[in-house]
Amino acid sequence: MIIAITGTPGVGKTTVSKLLAQRLGYEYVNLRDYAIEKGIGELKGELEVEVDELAYNFERDFKGKDVIVDGHLGHFLKADVVVVLRAHPRLIGERLKDRGYPREKIGENVEAELVDVILVEALEENERVLEVDTTGKTPEEVVNEILELIETGVKKRVGIVDWSEVYDEVIPYLRL
Ligand SMILES: Nc1ncnc2c1ncn2[C@@H]1O[C@H](COP(=O)(O)OP(=O)(O)OP(=O)(O)O)[C@@H](O)[C@H]1O
Ligand SMILES: [Mg+2]
Repeated sequence: MIIAITGTPGVGKTTVSKLLAQRLGYEYVNLRDYAIEKGIGELKGELEVEVDELAYNFERDFKGKDVIVDGHLGHFLKADVVVVLRAHPRLIGERLKDRGYPREKIGENVEAELVDVILVEALEENERVLEVDTTGKTPEEVVNEILELIETGVKKRVGIVDWSEVYDEVIPYLRL
């Protein structure tokens, strides 16, 4: 089974994906590293990839295998399950600030989380989308929740967060 873990930068994809891969005994694939290794896209500081080319190559290399694929473009791949991780946009802001990201980049990502950009894209691209809120949870708790949703056969679980309720708390991060 191919499980894609997607979400806004800083939401916790890599942390959760590695743990989930360990728990399931699946191969872990970092999508950015994969693209670079395969020479897909261009590295101009940030990696710019053609999602169709990425999806085509990924399917050729991983179809029928058991993998956890980690990356914010994961929902453009042909996956059996797409997990969209969510976190309070303030957490995204704090984490990216700690990483030393420029203000513009922090704002862009906090805004993306606020208005569900990745969730909406994932729903356009995939049948089985599972949204998981990581806020206030440990990575282990998030992994347990993902496993439970998959094992109980939940087909779709979306609409579990509404960050418009916390808009006031994230104003300092926005590019207004
Ligand atoms: N419940 C949680 N799930 C995942 N990460 C968490 C959680 N709580 C706190 N964290 C912390 O959040 C940070 C998430 O960083 P991580 O590198 O996993 O994000 P990412 O989504 O892979 O980012 P990027 O898109 O830049 O690769 C880590 O420092 C992790 O310890
Ligand atoms: Mg990561």
